[in-house]
Amino acid sequence: MTFKTIAVLGAGGGIGAALVEQLTLRPDVQLIHASRHAEPTVLAAGNGTDERADAAPIRWSVLEASDEAAVRNWVESLPAIDWMINCIGMLHDQAHGPEKSIRQLDPDHFISSMTINCLPTLLLGKYALPVLRKSPAGVFATVSARVGSISDNHLGGWYSYRASKAALNMSLKCLAIEWARVTRNIRVAALHPGTTDTPLSRPFQGNVPHGKLFSPQKTARLLLEQIDALHDHPSGRFIAYDGEEIPW
Ligand SMILES: NC(=O)c1ccc[n+]([C@@H]2O[C@H](COP(=O)([O-])OP(=O)(O)OC[C@H]3O[C@@H](n4cnc5c(N)ncnc54)[C@H](OP(=O)(O)O)[C@@H]3O)[C@@H](O)[C@H]2O)c1
Repeated sequence: MTFKTIAVLGAGGGIGAALVEQLTLRPDVQLIHASRHAEPTVLAAGNGTDERADAAPIRWSVLEASDEAAVRNWVESLPAIDWMINCIGMLHDQAHGPEKSIRQLDPDHFISSMTINCLPTLLLGKYALPVLRKSPAGVFATVSARVGSISDNHLGGWYSYRASKAALNMSLKCLAIEWARVTRNIRVAALHPGTTDTPLSRPFQGNVPHGKLFSPQKTARLLLEQIDALHDHPSGRFIAYDGEEIPW
């Protein structure tokens, strides 16, 4: 068995926390570097190590993932990494929800959406190659969203979120092409998690069909199945929780 060291960003969020929880119990995981955006209220410190006898240790960091210097310092502090999984994202904040019409577009919300949903992946991409290319089977994956697909857009609306996820998807596709020129050992992927019961989706769960609202635990399990299978395919795919390849 090859033991993996894994970095998870956005590990304070619903999907990120569930991924960390499941990764820490896998026999093939030896160490998890987990970053969160804000100091947790339940732990005394944001930086530290969680150690359990029956689980891989988690090294926690607080990281502003849209700050280039912070990302660079964090990535350069990492040892060789096998999987880097970015779960950071934002759909709404206290002042803004997703736009139903272009008339609701607010430049500040648009810029925030780009800054949170796309920029961290670009910054990670800028600095992560040296730590990922040492892995025999590296993964660089970001949780995107189906609504970032241009061809799959039949409803319109949600301008800032859709545009920032489309920009994220293009960034991942570019990275997959660029890195394939220098290594065969890394798979880059955009992942659609399905509608998951987290703070991000909570105000918008009303129309979700029965059985289609996943718990974070279910989503994490399904996403890990897809990540485990990434090296069976070429790099640079946009895939859903069930393995469906989503058109860009
Ligand atoms: N839930 C769904 O139904 C759904 C559907 C499709 C796609 N997604 C995508 O799945 C990913 C995870 O979302 P989630 O559902 O787990 O939502 P969540 O519980 O709200 O988690 C979002 C994460 O993003 C982090 N974050 C937010 N603003 C940030 C900022 N300015 N800088 C750095 N980190 C920031 C949060 O960190 P802190 O908690 O530390 O602030 C949190 O870890 C997102 O990319 C989202 O777009 C979710």
